Amino acid sequence: MAKLIGKNRIKTAVFISGNGSNLKSLIFFSKKKISPIQISLVISNNKRARGLNYAKKYKINKFSIIYKNKKNADFLILKKLKKNNIKLILLAGFMKILSKNFIISFKHPILNIHPSLLPKYKGLNTHERVIKNNEKFTGCTVHMVNKKLDSGKIILRKKIKIYKKDDAKTLEKRVLKQEHKLYPKAIGKFLSNL
Ligand code: GRF
Repeated sequence: MAKLIGKNRIKTAVFISGNGSNLKSLIFFSKKKISPIQISLVISNNKRARGLNYAKKYKINKFSIIYKNKKNADFLILKKLKKNNIKLILLAGFMKILSKNFIISFKHPILNIHPSLLPKYKGLNTHERVIKNNEKFTGCTVHMVNKKLDSGKIILRKKIKIYKKDDAKTLEKRVLKQEHKLYPKAIGKFLSNL
């Protein structure tokens, strides 16, 4: 990992769609002396995403793309990634499913953070579903992205207890707090194993 520190940090793009609280924690992580990543680009499928304000605040290149035509969107994003020499993608609340073609064409690792203890509760509305099913625990997972939704190799998970008084909102808040710690930790683990 030592070789990644300083000038050699991996050029990273973070993909977002909404609030960007994970993006914020990743930016803080990237600014640490020991961080192996440098966030060079923020990509959003929504030009009104609140998270884009973090890119502005921290002077990170940002690019919003309208997903009217997926093939064209893929092409434009891949072009941006290449131009910025991006070697790692971090999905952080990105609400679009990357196409198989995109994943094959990028040729570098893509990681995602998901608000459940994968392989349980893939897909959307995880907090609502765990509450409905009276689960005792939930959590968050950082995993590699492959061609199947939320099914790539798991890098790290954090387990969280569900209390009787919890609803989807309280759970979301608690899980999100843990996501902010888990993602940087998982990136460190993943890159030190390369
Ligand atoms: C997080 O819960 C993430 O796991 C999920 O979407 C949410 C994004 O939150 N994929 P934020 O935009 O990082 O605040």
